[in-house]
Amino acid sequence: MLSDTQITAAKGIADLPPVESDSLLQLIGLANADKRPEKIDVGVGVYRDSIGRTPILRAVKAAEKRLWETQDSKGYLGGAGDTRFAELLRPIVLGEHARDDRIAGLQTPGGCGALRLGFQLVAATNPQARVIIGTPTWPNHQPIIHGVALEPVEYPYYDRASRSIRFDAMLSAIEGGRAGDVVLLHGCCHNPTGADLDAGQWAEVTRVIAKRGLLPFVDIAYQGFGRGLDEDAAGLRGILAACDEVLVAQSCDKNFGVYRDRVGALFIKTARRDATSNAMGHVLQLAREMWSMPPDHGAAAIRLVLEDEALTADWRAELITMRERIAEVRTRIAAADPRLAFIGEQFGMFSMLPFTREQVLKLREDHAIYMADSGRFNVVGMADDRIDDFVAAIVGAIDG
Ligand code: LMR
Repeated sequence: MLSDTQITAAKGIADLPPVESDSLLQLIGLANADKRPEKIDVGVGVYRDSIGRTPILRAVKAAEKRLWETQDSKGYLGGAGDTRFAELLRPIVLGEHARDDRIAGLQTPGGCGALRLGFQLVAATNPQARVIIGTPTWPNHQPIIHGVALEPVEYPYYDRASRSIRFDAMLSAIEGGRAGDVVLLHGCCHNPTGADLDAGQWAEVTRVIAKRGLLPFVDIAYQGFGRGLDEDAAGLRGILAACDEVLVAQSCDKNFGVYRDRVGALFIKTARRDATSNAMGHVLQLAREMWSMPPDHGAAAIRLVLEDEALTADWRAELITMRERIAEVRTRIAAADPRLAFIGEQFGMFSMLPFTREQVLKLREDHAIYMADSGRFNVVGMADDRIDDFVAAIVGAIDG
């Protein structure tokens, strides 16, 4: 990300200072370039199975075949993308709120597109709004907020020493919000810490957000990877029940395993159906300015999965397999050393090891282990037969 001063200093494209790409994306390149056979890539958040593959889900593959056989046109669909896709997602994401006609949704290029579009809408509505955001967070949150010129207000979400959520700091930051400020929340499987709010904490956060007239923006990119599809959306659904205005950035990239196809959705709730429909007009215009229309293929395949009972059942079974593997690997790592026990109590693909950047780099150099500079690692980034080596290396690093 370039600072404002760096940007104003540039006169022509050639004057631009070098930019560091998002550290997670950089890590993909670094890991791919490392040819050491012992390499362990637990950097970017991509599910890998017990033998280290990221397979295309059976249900998705079957739907893609059907799509190839039956799709007879690639004509434009329009700015909202595949509208049936967004409709079919509603019960999965919104649960009992699926029938609330004050909530509308549209297809976006991944969860990232949904975040950008939602924040563009906030910036267009209320440029004075600040964004209350816990740290650490997904490294692309801040650049997106910066990109729409909103002011972030950070609070410490996670205490690395005690491996627990700093709930008092979170609540007091939210209490300090002004009406119209945004509160960015991770729906489940917190990225990068794996430390999720419990039901009581969600209820408390929801109560304060509603009381202060804040706008909750829930980023739910890993639904089904934590405790279950409904369980992982329970906090979001409580927010929808309590607040008049809510934004939801959803991603199918992980739970349908369609990472590179970029499949997501933005849902908008306002207090009135006509206001939601007006807001949809605005986001369609904003989307038009950015990507015009979202890519179709992945969303069309997911629509075919969700339109078909047998394919949906198979997708749900595959999602359970992924979730169970995540839980099993967590249990195995947690059992290896009491100092790693916290990993067994967290959810989703990520946990954070208590390492400095130097320790992370040393693990990379000495053991070809690739994790994010923050110490975040993907618990299902490695094949089963590499887990012992991984644990031995990180325990060695903890021992110093
Ligand atoms: C991650 O956090 O590793 C994933 O969400 C991939 C990404 O886009 O950063």
